[in-house]
Amino acid sequence: MRVLILGADGYLGWPTAMHFSNKGDDVVAVDNFSKRFWELELGIETLEPVPTLHRRIARWRQVTDRVIELRVGDLTNHRFVYKLLEEIRPDAIVHYAEQPSAPYSMHSRTNAVNTQVNNIVGTLNLLFAIRSYCPNTHLVKLGTMGEYGTPNIDIEEGYITINHNGRSDVLPFPKQPGSFYHLSKVHDTHNIAFVCNIWKLAATDLNQGVVYGIETADTARDPELRTAFHYDSVFGTVLNRFLVQAVCGIPLTVYGEGGQTRGFLNINDTLRCVELAVRNPAKAGEFRVLNQFTEQFSVLDLATRVQAAGARGGMKVEIARVANPRVEKEHHYYNAKHSKLPELGLVPNLLTDEVLDRMLATVRGHAHRINRDIVQPSIAWAQKHP
Ligand SMILES: NC(=O)c1ccc[n+]([C@@H]2O[C@H](COP(=O)([O-])OP(=O)(O)OC[C@H]3O[C@@H](n4cnc5c(N)ncnc54)[C@H](O)[C@@H]3O)[C@@H](O)[C@H]2O)c1
Repeated sequence: MRVLILGADGYLGWPTAMHFSNKGDDVVAVDNFSKRFWELELGIETLEPVPTLHRRIARWRQVTDRVIELRVGDLTNHRFVYKLLEEIRPDAIVHYAEQPSAPYSMHSRTNAVNTQVNNIVGTLNLLFAIRSYCPNTHLVKLGTMGEYGTPNIDIEEGYITINHNGRSDVLPFPKQPGSFYHLSKVHDTHNIAFVCNIWKLAATDLNQGVVYGIETADTARDPELRTAFHYDSVFGTVLNRFLVQAVCGIPLTVYGEGGQTRGFLNINDTLRCVELAVRNPAKAGEFRVLNQFTEQFSVLDLATRVQAAGARGGMKVEIARVANPRVEKEHHYYNAKHSKLPELGLVPNLLTDEVLDRMLATVRGHAHRINRDIVQPSIAWAQKHP
């Protein structure tokens, strides 16, 4: 298949590009490197420096003799997107190319606007370009489980049957996003569902949980093929931050009561889920929604697991309850359905002690690289920012 990977310089985009290339698919990688700019803007470093995309693609070719094509450009520039799709006309598009951080989007008016313009306009340009140049292309778009929020009922996969005043309908599941970033994903969802209906495009929305892990079969082939490990308070997800805090001797920062429960998955399962979605495409006119995660954990569960991993490694790890910088429920019901990807063939890689110990060992191996100044929470939802 001809597969276009948008956001291919990113944490998930690069391993995905290698994954499809390794399977013999014809891969075109796209990025505008905006994530690297946001990192520089905030003084953020990854655990290990990430080689440029150009260099990683060249290395991939040396190691595997497979070619990944590169196109540098910004999805918010519609001329770039139109030209790209006119030329490539892919069978499938995997769309990761968005600003992915809730704290980043909550920092200021500027960041909220940038996040929503980048994410929503980029996706809209893509939808119009698909209609013009390749209406049979299957769009696989990364959404997030955070679009649903934490309702006091089971979370379904995209749709819910509602009985109201004696009538019944299958309707989009209600969304209660918790940040301007999550809101951007909800707006994307509505735009994509709308064009599937009116233009009969085919799309799959992958409502992904929090991804952990940095090692895939392909990143392990060569140090220059690595992907990013963010541990800072803006782009680092909770497990990464806890592992780094454990290694630095900083008490793990559990927000408030720590009962916040979310869906999680291993990076290798992201690759498998995206591949399953691509190989089993949505039909023309279908807006398919799959909940992409394998396990649920509360923040306190994760802190306790990291503490135990530390103890196994001979480290004393403390847990601190800190004031919650977010506005969110700290105790709530959470039961999100996630059966459609296993039905397509997903066999989950779970967060075993062995996986956790391996991640902790990786972080310990790079302890000298950790910048302690960027670890602690720095952006509060209710605080007034510029
Ligand atoms: N990592 C997770 O845990 C997670 C969880 C749920 C959903 N997601 C979603 O998956 C996607 C990928 O996440 P990630 O962690 O790999 O993020 P990332 O920031 O590492 O990768 C996104 C890439 O897209 C690029 N990009 C952003 N805007 C662009 C634009 N306008 N034009 C071209 N390129 C652009 C960035 O430069 C970056 O390389 C995001 O949409 C994110 O919201 C990620």
